[in-house]
Amino acid sequence: MRVLITGVSGLLGINLAMGAMREHEVIGVDRGKLKSAPFHVLKADILKTDEIDSILDMTHPDWIINCAALANLEKCEEDPYQAKRLNTDLPSELATVCAKRNIQFLHLSTDSVFDGTNEEMYTEEDEPSPPGIYSQTKLDGERAVQQVNPQASIARVNFYGWSLGAKRSLAEFFVNNLSEGKNVNGFTDVIFCPLWVNHLSHILIEMLEKNLSGLYHVVGAQAMSKYQFGVEVARRFGLRENLISPQSVERSGLTARRSHNLWLSTHKLSTDLGHEIPLFSTGLDGFYTQFQQGYPQKIRGYQQ
Ligand SMILES: NC(=O)c1ccc[n+]([C@@H]2O[C@H](COP(=O)([O-])OP(=O)(O)OC[C@H]3O[C@@H](n4cnc5c(N)ncnc54)[C@H](OP(=O)(O)O)[C@@H]3O)[C@@H](O)[C@H]2O)c1
Repeated sequence: MRVLITGVSGLLGINLAMGAMREHEVIGVDRGKLKSAPFHVLKADILKTDEIDSILDMTHPDWIINCAALANLEKCEEDPYQAKRLNTDLPSELATVCAKRNIQFLHLSTDSVFDGTNEEMYTEEDEPSPPGIYSQTKLDGERAVQQVNPQASIARVNFYGWSLGAKRSLAEFFVNNLSEGKNVNGFTDVIFCPLWVNHLSHILIEMLEKNLSGLYHVVGAQAMSKYQFGVEVARRFGLRENLISPQSVERSGLTARRSHNLWLSTHKLSTDLGHEIPLFSTGLDGFYTQFQQGYPQKIRGYQQ
């Protein structure tokens, strides 16, 4: 299949492209960050009028995976207009052209559409209650996609991995700081379900191959606090876990509100895929193996 990936320079985009290119023809859309990636890269500003149509006239993809977003929660609070353009208007436009051109569309959303006040895990049936601009614009994006293209798939995700800038994921934060002997805080009151980006990428391609449509929770099968995640990363990398101080997110000074409980059920996904979601420990082993094999340096070498 020919797959077009927007936001290909992002944490998910680059890892997804690297994984998908083994079995599919990948075309990444980038604003100019990538220079020597091992897949085809188109430089384009997808927010510009008519840009998407001209990209599709040129490339004729079978699938589009939309990884472009304003995914920094603080930046969304500072610039709600740009957050809406990227997180709501862009997916809506992509979903519309995909429906018109008969292209399968997969859009990325977030676990944080929930405010986290539930004691239990959230299913796809639960009513979202976004706590801030990022989550509100992402939820609006989901709804716009569903409205204009009911065949589209939407994945609510949370993941970690190696990024181009070496700073995008929480796992990198812990590895970078602990490697330098720095003290860091780990939130004990934010529960989430981290999935290794390579497992996520594999599942997204599987969803397209199986033609799954509609809303799915695509997160790790194990819930843990961000503090516990830091400890697990430290242990796997042989770093000092006692440099991580347990702390409440309420004392973090972050401007955008964080949800306390983002424990999402993956029951619908594993049922429709016909297999379980990979274990957290398997993902962390994979993340560590990449480190040993120089993968972080390799992908950083693709930057301008
Ligand atoms: N990381 C997580 O754990 C997490 C959690 C929940 C949901 N998600 C969702 O998963 C998806 C991927 O997230 P990510 O962490 O990979 O995000 P990311 O690393 O911030 O990447 C975002 C991508 O969007 C591109 N982009 C930003 N502004 C753009 C613009 N004006 N025009 C075109 N492209 C633009 C960026 O390009 P530049 O490099 O040029 O800026 C980058 O390639 C997003 O939908 C996000 O909301 C992520």
